[in-house]
Amino acid sequence: MPLFTRDDYSKVLETSPIKGQDEPILKALRYINLGYPVMFYGPAGNGKSTVASHILSYLGKEWLKIEATEGMTEYHVIGGFHPLSMSADAERSKEFLYKDGVVSRAMLEGKNLLIDEFTRAPSSAYSGLFLLLSFGELPLEYRQQVIKKPPDWVLIATANFGDDGTFKLSSALKRRFIPIGIGYPKRYTEEKLLKEVVPGLPEEIVRAILDFAEGTREMWRKDKTLPSGLSTDGVIKMARYCHLSIQEGTDKQTAFTDSALHQGVIIADETDYLSLQTVQELALTIAKKMGR
Ligand SMILES: Nc1ncnc2c1ncn2[C@@H]1O[C@H](COP(=O)(O)OP(=O)(O)O)[C@@H](O)[C@H]1O
Ligand SMILES: [Mg+2]
Repeated sequence: MPLFTRDDYSKVLETSPIKGQDEPILKALRYINLGYPVMFYGPAGNGKSTVASHILSYLGKEWLKIEATEGMTEYHVIGGFHPLSMSADAERSKEFLYKDGVVSRAMLEGKNLLIDEFTRAPSSAYSGLFLLLSFGELPLEYRQQVIKKPPDWVLIATANFGDDGTFKLSSALKRRFIPIGIGYPKRYTEEKLLKEVVPGLPEEIVRAILDFAEGTREMWRKDKTLPSGLSTDGVIKMARYCHLSIQEGTDKQTAFTDSALHQGVIIADETDYLSLQTVQELALTIAKKMGR
């Protein structure tokens, strides 16, 4: 029995808080049905973590989440001897022999697992996972035990390849996941989204925000003038800020420019004057057009 029927496919899409990403979601559901671990990748703020949580919650079974960090090691992922097992206190050392890592705990407790921001940890943290990912067996040396992957166990990861502060995923590890890209959605999707999230936002502001988003994404895609484009999350934040500040009496042009400059700092390289200037100029050009 597959985890998701075709009826479930439609329901997952209908109830998804992330709109306009139906294709990657469907692909993920198919691969999960086939028993493969999937890895959502793409720029920050386009809904990777939310989609992963949504899929896991839809299944109606308990699941664990870990957010990878730079300091994460095999101890956190698989487990090992508990520091207190070396204690001079005999009672305590009996109580704490070992500590299961998050993957072991998830499998032992029969819970599905999300490893969020996978590439924030070095690949070495995951070296204990190879047998699990290839043959469905997780050897736990410290327990002298091998656990078998339950047939319906679901593992989802998210990653931002090549972002600052991430590690390059070893190709051996990468091959063991199905990579599914979540990129920038289409303009009409974000337009519809803004009408839902911020009803009553003036048409010119919606247009200006979407122009700004498109402009930054173009600069990122074409020649990497900017290190990233504006995410859907950024689009929503701009819209909400404009809405509030217009209600409080700010004129539309100023509200838009302010919000674009705030987001501009996020998407530009803040240590590079030229990068900041590029995004500021784009914001001002769009603001000027609005006034006419
Ligand atoms: N396509 C979308 N539809 C609706 N909301 C979105 C969309 N993309 C991003 N968001 C918003 O952006 C927020 C951040 O998403 P998140 O899942 O944290 O992104 P990521 O993990 O890719 O960085 C979400 O909570 C949601 O409000
Ligand atoms: Mg995320």
